[in-house]
Amino acid sequence: MDSDSDGIGDFQGLTKCLDHLSGIGITCLWLLPFYASPNRDNGYDVMDYYSVDPRLGTLGDFVEFMHQARERGIRVIVDLVVNHTSIQHPWFQAARKDKNSKYRDFYVWSEDPPKSDPKLLMFPNVEDSIWDYDKRAGAYYLHHFYKEQPDLNIANPTVREEICKIMGFWLELGVSGFRIDAAPFLIKGIGIEGANQQDLPDFLAQMREFLSARRGDAILLAEANVPPDQIPIYFGNGDKMHMLFNFLLNQYVFLALARQEASPLRDGLKTLPEMPKNCQWLNFVRHHDELALDRLSQSQQEEVFQAFAPDENMRIYGHGIRRRLPPMLDSDSRRIELVYSLMFSLPGTPLIRYGEEIGMGENLSLPGRDSVRTPMQWSNAANGGFSAAPAAALSRPVITEGEYGYERVNVAKEQRDPNSLVNWMERLVRLRKQCPEFGRGQWQILETDEPCVFAHCCEWEGNAVIALHNLSDRKCIVRLKSSEYQHLSDVFGDRQYEAVSDDSGSIPLEAYGYRWLRVNQM
Ligand code: NOJ
Repeated sequence: MDSDSDGIGDFQGLTKCLDHLSGIGITCLWLLPFYASPNRDNGYDVMDYYSVDPRLGTLGDFVEFMHQARERGIRVIVDLVVNHTSIQHPWFQAARKDKNSKYRDFYVWSEDPPKSDPKLLMFPNVEDSIWDYDKRAGAYYLHHFYKEQPDLNIANPTVREEICKIMGFWLELGVSGFRIDAAPFLIKGIGIEGANQQDLPDFLAQMREFLSARRGDAILLAEANVPPDQIPIYFGNGDKMHMLFNFLLNQYVFLALARQEASPLRDGLKTLPEMPKNCQWLNFVRHHDELALDRLSQSQQEEVFQAFAPDENMRIYGHGIRRRLPPMLDSDSRRIELVYSLMFSLPGTPLIRYGEEIGMGENLSLPGRDSVRTPMQWSNAANGGFSAAPAAALSRPVITEGEYGYERVNVAKEQRDPNSLVNWMERLVRLRKQCPEFGRGQWQILETDEPCVFAHCCEWEGNAVIALHNLSDRKCIVRLKSSEYQHLSDVFGDRQYEAVSDDSGSIPLEAYGYRWLRVNQM
């Protein structure tokens, strides 16, 4: 929310929104980069790690926001974007000007770089190489993302010290941890052939040691969309990242939804490697980037595209979708609830992004990933209540037209409507808190006689909950193959079902229906 009518959301505005967030039951906020930035990549190109971008407020506003969040029992984690800086960061400016500057070795240079493997390009069609020639420096520098984002040289111990110092700064201001942006690139040895390649992943442990020494209850959450065999690099023995975004499961969920079959989801869960006890998955439906499908085979990707992104304009980078969930599901509230019920019950911690709680849509006329980055829709006031600036001054246009326009989809309207998504979501959050087994327990896939139903059970400290999700558009009656689970009572569902009788063992589910059942100890 924009507090000073300049068309850009800011910390004072965000502070005013904390009551909405605390009302839903949010326990932790993840803030995208808010540091000084020329904004080539939505703030992921940082120019100064120790400041708040003046467009978003001041450090004083940040501290006030932290205080108000803490008052409401909300923790805050922030993005740590240290695979690269902005090209405008003083380190890069010093590095390019002087070969002998101590900052030269903060980045990765080459006089004669190899031809880029197209697989290494994070933004295909936007960049055509991971090396760019800098005239002033007289050399090429490495950049996995935009050319305005030169990669830092993590093999350099001074760079590592600087990164820890940045963490130390924000920890002193009260943050509960960091989302480590682009974690795989941070520990890749490209261009630093001299470095001991074994040493690079050690940096994750070094960061962890520093973090935990400064603040024992803080966490590191890595953004690492990597194949299953590489996941252990990030968790280590429980001495590296506390949490990882569950990119793998996310992609299998969409495949299962596209097929209306549970088997991809089961396969996805089975593919996840065991994690150390003190680590956790972060499950999500969508975030601010594309819905990546790159862990699926070509034909599986095609199935998901056909189901959820039939037009070329809905796709991005050859393997991603640039849409929000509700339009992908034709605004079918049964399917939208099904997806969030599933995500909240899968092993891990659930993440929702602003706007998901009210079912916001996308704007496909905006370029690239901006389609899913339109301003929050608070009310039916001008600009959806996001800003009092003239519409033309907004950082991005609010969605005004059609089914997802702010007059139809907004917080104020939904709060008044007992049947709205936001009120359903609030109940979902509350009940998820009452079923900690989903997050903390041992999970197990349950065999049923219905291929369209995904059934699983989570047990923790002698208690167990079962979740059933019918991914198909036809109703069914499920029978669990194991008779181990008796005396089931409904906790949550898409409607009020009749109580499950122990004798019949049959559990009815509507089309796209879902039920959470507590296994009662007798
Ligand atoms: C991942 C972020 O989520 C994305 O938005 C950004 O473009 C890249 N990292 C580069 O920082």
